Amino acid sequence: MQNDRRYVPHVEGTLMKLPASGRRVLVSGASRGLGRAVAQAFAANGDRVAVHFASRADDARVTLESLDGTGHALVGGDLADPTGAVAVADAAAEALGGIDVLVNNAAVNLRHPLPETPYEEWVAVWQRHVSVNLLATANLSHLAARRMIDQGSGGRIVNIGSRGAFRGEPDHPAYGATKAAVHALGQSLAVSLAPYGIAVASVAPGFFATERVSSRLEGVEGAAIRAQSPFGRVAEPAEIAAAVLWLASPAAEWSSGTILDLNGASHLRS
Ligand SMILES: NC(=O)c1ccc[n+]([C@@H]2O[C@H](COP(=O)([O-])OP(=O)(O)OC[C@H]3O[C@@H](n4cnc5c(N)ncnc54)[C@H](OP(=O)(O)O)[C@@H]3O)[C@@H](O)[C@H]2O)c1
Repeated sequence: MQNDRRYVPHVEGTLMKLPASGRRVLVSGASRGLGRAVAQAFAANGDRVAVHFASRADDARVTLESLDGTGHALVGGDLADPTGAVAVADAAAEALGGIDVLVNNAAVNLRHPLPETPYEEWVAVWQRHVSVNLLATANLSHLAARRMIDQGSGGRIVNIGSRGAFRGEPDHPAYGATKAAVHALGQSLAVSLAPYGIAVASVAPGFFATERVSSRLEGVEGAAIRAQSPFGRVAEPAEIAAAVLWLASPAAEWSSGTILDLNGASHLRS
């Protein structure tokens, strides 16, 4: 019986089809880096974007001004705070007139190798990763998906996970663990939201060149990181954004539940 639910919208009338452009897209953490590239990819596709930031308002404004088209919006707020997440979702929905696509991109990645990290710091860093990387993703997914359900027009959620969930993150264990949880969350939501025409997918990127990792991409460490891929390089954010845009497309409905490796063959899962 569960399969029948896909064809029985919860609202009166017929479930509308998700359009290929002109959609209302909330991108968390779009002040710079991948979030900016994702916002630019959706805008270039003819979608309208709510550019979210936490602390870098000026950078987020640069993102906003770089977008093709009109009707985009700037939305600030701390997603580690559940009430902050409500304010962000409300502001995005009000500015865009609803939410059709959510990209959960905001995250922290703090170094805390166990052998060198005092217990109090370990506890604080874990709590920070869980709050931002996992709970904010879960909360924003709830807030956006409930709107998609009420709109009756289907939708898409794309989570930015990480290769580190599979390969291990010895210097950033809370990061690896929370990204694995984000992948698992996406798979659970893919099943529960499919009856409403909402597809949920995650990407698991290896290194790509953003401001946050630029210092690690210099010198000996940078050479070692580039050597992880047989292509001898790291990715550009636009390469990750292209996959996110596709996973949010109507054509990607059948990819719901996937965790897409985007790592230049640097880590092959069996
Ligand atoms: N770069 C890589 O090599 C790599 C590899 C695999 C996966 N990833 C993932 O890709 C995504 C983007 O990475 P990036 O390198 O572009 O990172 P980034 O430049 O550090 O951007 C992170 C974004 O998250 C936002 N953010 C941080 N804490 C927040 C909070 N409490 N509430 C709301 N927003 C918050 C930041 O907002 P503000 O700047 O406004 O504070 C920023 O916009 C992340 O999910 C990351 O884990 C990155």
